[in-house]
Amino acid sequence: MFLITTASKVGAETARLLAQRSEPVRVLVRDQGKAPALAQAGIEVVQGDLEDPATIDAAMRGVATVALVSPAIPRQELNVVNSAVRAGVEHVVKITSDSSADSPIARRRGQAEIENGLIASGLSYTLLKNNAYMQNFLMQAPMIAATNSFGSSTGDGRIGMIDTRDVAALAAEIAASPAPHKGKTYWPTGPETLSYPDVAAALSKVLDRPITFHSLTFDQQRQAMIDAGLPEHVAEDNAQALSLFARGEADYTTSDVQSILARPARTFEQFAADHADAFS
Ligand SMILES: NC(=O)c1ccc[n+]([C@@H]2O[C@H](COP(=O)([O-])OP(=O)(O)OC[C@H]3O[C@@H](n4cnc5c(N)ncnc54)[C@H](OP(=O)(O)O)[C@@H]3O)[C@@H](O)[C@H]2O)c1
Repeated sequence: MFLITTASKVGAETARLLAQRSEPVRVLVRDQGKAPALAQAGIEVVQGDLEDPATIDAAMRGVATVALVSPAIPRQELNVVNSAVRAGVEHVVKITSDSSADSPIARRRGQAEIENGLIASGLSYTLLKNNAYMQNFLMQAPMIAATNSFGSSTGDGRIGMIDTRDVAALAAEIAASPAPHKGKTYWPTGPETLSYPDVAAALSKVLDRPITFHSLTFDQQRQAMIDAGLPEHVAEDNAQALSLFARGEADYTTSDVQSILARPARTFEQFAADHADAFS
């Protein structure tokens, strides 16, 4: 039995891919009403909360492998790690990012704490330290649809952005056959690095209309995300991450998708074509 800890973008797709392999899959959700498609796909959807260890223990019954994916609040993910130890789980695939204990970004400090807790637990694990998700652009899709323009504080910084469907494919593959991946850390990326102006060019080509990019200052970026509904601390974290991207820290690609899945990673143009309705 596989347990996926949330029906997040990556979690829901990981569950679907494992179910397509006729594997028994369980997903923990706070609100079962939000996951009817997963239940229809034959996935066991159980109600729980990562804040509540008793609900995690209930979801962990009979589980051999866990895909650990959530907003990465250390208390919550370490609840899962502790539950997995109690249940004798065989392997944990942890979805994470670039992280370090002294990062200026709170989320990355949290990821480092979780990774260290997982490693110290003695559980078998694999870390997927993903580059930025292409799906982040879906948050700006309504504005792009309305104005044919979008902004950010990334400047010309290039990013090896990855499609979350590829992250999920990696998580599913590793969960299904963990042996060669035990104790390993991967740095999954897409096939190329793109700046935000490159993204504007790719969207213009795929959507067949001009989409323009404009630069924002750090404060404008932070405020734009608050205006879009993000809590202040998340907007601050995200704006900090975009400043690091501007400085080139996400400007790398790896061959992890190709070498683990034996197929290329999805391109941004593929992502944009598959989500063209959202941008239109
Ligand atoms: N975005 C990026 O560019 C990027 C890049 C690299 C790595 N990552 C990592 O990817 C992970 C996020 O993955 P994602 O984008 O797939 O997530 P996501 O789509 O943002 O979804 C988060 C999920 O967590 C659930 N959740 C929140 N609090 C919960 C709780 N207390 N108990 C149970 N479920 C709870 C939410 O459920 P509800 O529907 O109930 O709210 C939602 O389904 C993070 O670890 C992040 O650091 C992100």
